[in-house]
Amino acid sequence: MRPLRSSAWFSRDDEVGLEHRAAMRSAGHPVEAGAARPVIGLMSSINGFNPCNLPLRRLVDAARAGVEAAGGTAVELPVMSLGEDLMKPTAMLYRNLLAMEVEEYIRSQPVDGVVLFGNCDKTVPAQLMAAASADVPAIQVTGGFRSPGRFRGAEVGAGTDLWAYWSERRAGQLDDEGWNGLEVALSCSQGACNVMGTAMTMGILAETLGMMLPGSSVLPSDDPRLAELATLAGRRIVDLVAQQQRPRDILTEAAFDNALLVLAACGGSTNALVHLSAIAGRRGIRLSPDRLAVASAQTPVLVDVAPIGSSHIAAFSAAGGVPALLRELAPLLRRDVVSVGEAALGATVDSAASQVIRSLHDPVTDVPAFAVVHGNIAPDGALIKTAAASPALLNHVGTAIVFDGYEDMLARIDDPELGATAGSVLILRNCGPRAGDGFPEWGMIPVPKHLAEAGVTDMVRLSDARMSGTSFGTCVLHIAPDAASGGPLALLRTGDVIELDAAGGRIHARVDAVQFDRRRALWTKPTSRHRRGWPRLFDEHVLQAPEGCDFDFLVPEDDAALEWQEPTVGRS
Ligand code: FES
Repeated sequence: MRPLRSSAWFSRDDEVGLEHRAAMRSAGHPVEAGAARPVIGLMSSINGFNPCNLPLRRLVDAARAGVEAAGGTAVELPVMSLGEDLMKPTAMLYRNLLAMEVEEYIRSQPVDGVVLFGNCDKTVPAQLMAAASADVPAIQVTGGFRSPGRFRGAEVGAGTDLWAYWSERRAGQLDDEGWNGLEVALSCSQGACNVMGTAMTMGILAETLGMMLPGSSVLPSDDPRLAELATLAGRRIVDLVAQQQRPRDILTEAAFDNALLVLAACGGSTNALVHLSAIAGRRGIRLSPDRLAVASAQTPVLVDVAPIGSSHIAAFSAAGGVPALLRELAPLLRRDVVSVGEAALGATVDSAASQVIRSLHDPVTDVPAFAVVHGNIAPDGALIKTAAASPALLNHVGTAIVFDGYEDMLARIDDPELGATAGSVLILRNCGPRAGDGFPEWGMIPVPKHLAEAGVTDMVRLSDARMSGTSFGTCVLHIAPDAASGGPLALLRTGDVIELDAAGGRIHARVDAVQFDRRRALWTKPTSRHRRGWPRLFDEHVLQAPEGCDFDFLVPEDDAALEWQEPTVGRS
């Protein structure tokens, strides 16, 4: 058996080994030279600004008990927490920072395996990116979803219902009393958003990839099974260390193919494609948006959960969650995959198709979940969640109204002089990865007030931004290259005629090449306002959406760079 990684710290018979063992003893984790007791890092992303991750506290304790019962030493390693609601300009600015923190903690500390605790949108992908690079045995644990609140006699889903009621409010149909009541209803409990937003999508994909125990990603945050599964994860990570089963064995091309099918079948968050591409990129796997388009064409939407469907995530959980969905998708899935669990993919379920998890022959909608469009506006592609769009707008020609940034959009969107009609195409640029705000979720541009008041609920909207996984509408997102990088989106002007053909995979501006060249000659690259610190590092190194917005220096350049470098263990 391979020696434990931690033995480089603890088995030495010199002053360095003694110092390391003394430090562990002082911290309450006595280790003995030569003892084969694996050290497991419990990497918890909890803080008081992130209610989505607070349920993880009790799961860390449960996992600790599991590790100790299996003969390991559990050491808590808190890492930063990325809370979606309060962190500005967007938690996405810090996803790569968390990924680096987790990876470097693993590199620098004497851990043989890790349990990763995340829940809110960016925490799970960041931890999986780190695990893919560090390649020590790892299990992901998530904290479950919050229970839905009630408003006007109906359950409200986090995000999705807020966007809908915000539209009502803008249209003058929701008074102050109702607005305050909605706030109370949405402050319902702790845990991840209870619709098919980014957090639940990423948990589902982590389980599909094989990085979570089967059946653990879609449970209510107060469900006692979460603690049982966390204890099991603690026991299991000790086994994985003994077997030396590592993320490289799990995060394979086949596993990502399955994840894309599941993403399409869930009608999951558009953000998930960015995160999946980043995780895959850490193992040298290129996950182009076109692969999601192929998966979407193969797999109809089977999960009837908001924002595409009518239920909340609790109904999906009660119907069997991921194992039940995998059973329905079995004819399409690749079986040559492994998981941190003991059972084979989808083998743990005995359920039938239901109202919430449909069969391949009875999907939720005939429209595929996603389409990828290319054209002279988006040479490297753009993504649209077709199943959450208005079918009548998926093939549309309209005149552009261009906003040069988020502030510009907020300042002018309700201006009666804007000249917007229901058929206009709203364009928001300078919100992509390179624009200085970390690639925020600004892509669901609000419908101008006078149109909302007239009953317009959706318009074609184009941007280089992302949008929340809980959002809906005919929004073409992640246009690449982004405007700040000099992509053609930067050259569009108000009045240009835009063609969208989602089914045909096309987004096009009726602007000829000569015009584009003239405009390009006049374009100047915006200067980053970030002169120092993390935002500057982000601006200088972030890749485009199709490459997962990882940093160029974190993606392995070749097979040799896939091998992780251990630190020199000597005097500090
Ligand atoms: Fe944290 Fe939705 S805001 S999961």
